Formats: sequence, C-alpha cells, structure tokens
Amino acid sequence: MSGMDEDRYEYYRAMVEYWLRGRFTDAGDGADGLREAMRYSLLAGGKRVRPILCLEFARLCGLDPEDALPAACALELLHTYSLIHDDLPCMDDDDERRGRPANHKRFGETTAVLAGDCLQAEAFAAICDAPIGEAERARCCRILAAAAGAGGICGGQFLDLADEPATAESLTAIDRRKTAALMAAACAMGAAAAGAEQKTVDKAWEFGQVLGMAFQCRDDLLDGDGFCALLGPEECRTLTEKFTRRALGLLESFRDAAFLRELTEKLAGRRN
Ligand code: IPE
Ligand code: IPE
Ligand code: MG
Ligand code: MG
Repeated sequence: MSGMDEDRYEYYRAMVEYWLRGRFTDAGDGADGLREAMRYSLLAGGKRVRPILCLEFARLCGLDPEDALPAACALELLHTYSLIHDDLPCMDDDDERRGRPANHKRFGETTAVLAGDCLQAEAFAAICDAPIGEAERARCCRILAAAAGAGGICGGQFLDLADEPATAESLTAIDRRKTAALMAAACAMGAAAAGAEQKTVDKAWEFGQVLGMAFQCRDDLLDGDGFCALLGPEECRTLTEKFTRRALGLLESFRDAAFLRELTEKLAGRRN
C-alpha cells in the first residue's frame, strides 16, 4: 500500500483496537473469567480486515467513521466468535490461533464455547448501541444476522465439516457462506450505517462477496487447504487473481475507492 493508504489502515486499526479494549472490562459479577476468555481471543492481534472494510464503506457513503465504529467492531466480535468455535475439537480441532494457544487450549472447552456465544450476542448489542439512526441499526443487524446464520457462517461451517468429497463447486458454495458472507456484510453494513440507498448497499455487498472469495483462496494457498489441496497451488493462485480482478472491477462503481483498491491488492498477496 502507498504511504497514505497504509496510514489510513493504521488509523482505522487503532480505532478498532481502542474500542475493543474498552469493551469487556471486569465487572466483579462472577463472570470475569468469561470476559477474560473473550478478551484473550479478541485482543490477540487480528488483521481487523472486516471492521476496516466497514469503516471505509461508511466513509465512502458519507458517514464519519467514528460513528460507524461500534457497527464495524460488531463484525470483529462475530468473526472472533467464529474463530474460537472453528478451532474446537468438534470442529477443526486446532491448537493455535493468532499465534497463541487456541481459546479452548487456554481456558477449556466449556469456557471457549461460552466465550464464542457471548461474543456473538455482544456483536448485536454493539450495533444496538451505535450512534446512528434506529433504521440504520436495524438494517445493520439484519445484514449481520444473514451473514452469521444458515445462509452464512453457520451454514458454511456445517457444509465444510460434512465429510463430503470436495469439488470446485462444493468449495465455492462453502466459501461463499463461511468466509465471503461476513466480508460482504462488512461492506454492506458500512453503507447501510451511512443510510445509503439499497442499490449502493447491494453493490458494496457484491464487492465484499468477491473479495471474500479471493481472501479464502489466498488463505487456502497459505495453509495448503481447500482449493489449494484440490487444484494445486498454481491453479489456486490463478483463482485468487481471478477473484481479485473481479473485485477490483466491482469497485469501478464507487468514487474515491483508491484505498479499497490497494487493500484488495494487498490482501491478494498477504502472508498471514
Ligand atoms: C481467518 O480470518 C479465517 C478465514 C476466514 C480465512 P482472518 O485471516 O481475517 O483472521 P485474523 O482475524 O486476521 O486473525
Ligand atoms: C475459518 O475457516 C472460517 C470461519 C471461522 C467461519 P478455516 O477453518 O478455513 O480457517 P482457519 O485456517 O482455521 O483460519
Ligand atoms: Mg474451519
Ligand atoms: Mg479452521
């Protein structure tokens, strides 16, 4: 990214970190162990791609990113819940996440399940507290719920773990739901928080969906999973490039999209 856009990424990231850090402090009510488990995964240094997409789309559609911050952070809460549950023994059974022991390795499975549940509920609470209009809050909740449910992450995870042999079609259907749906929601929520017209929200959603496919293909390339295991690294790289080009094309309908273009390209070449 150019210096200017790197600065904006860091500016957004700092806003997100600050908000997340202040959110789940101890309350002395007997549930602080649960809050500690939530903070552990939340403050472990994710890339914050989803909230940053939301903040930038809010800005493009005329809202001060500060006012979009709680809705943007809701995406990170939901994403973090999905990662905690994704690592559980009954799911991917992974011991590490974000460079440290997975939540269940550190706190045990019971607390990890509850920390995930709690983060999902808190995501919707964050939107309800956002300093935007009532209608905009409702719209953001709807968009996030669609990305989280059977047509989104949960449905995608269900298909992913359903022990069926993978084909390019089945992987596309899985990735659309388990990864691209939340990226799409991130972009759409930024526009919706700003009160943009439905046509614009739909365009933001479509861009996020294609960006999310490129993102998952890159993830597969980095960990040798999914499309990389099925098609090999060369074809997986080609697929990442194809989705990236399509995503860049979809940005043509947005003015002032230089930051998003650079971010799209940066994600296609990311190393973590
Ligand atoms: C990881 O997401 C899971 C996928 C959907 C590929 P990220 O790559 O955004 O993970 P963090 O938030 O930076 O840890
Ligand atoms: C994670 O997908 C996507 C969700 C949590 C919905 P993966 O299982 O492919 O990602 P990593 O490799 O664990 O981050
Ligand atoms: Mg998984
Ligand atoms: Mg996994």
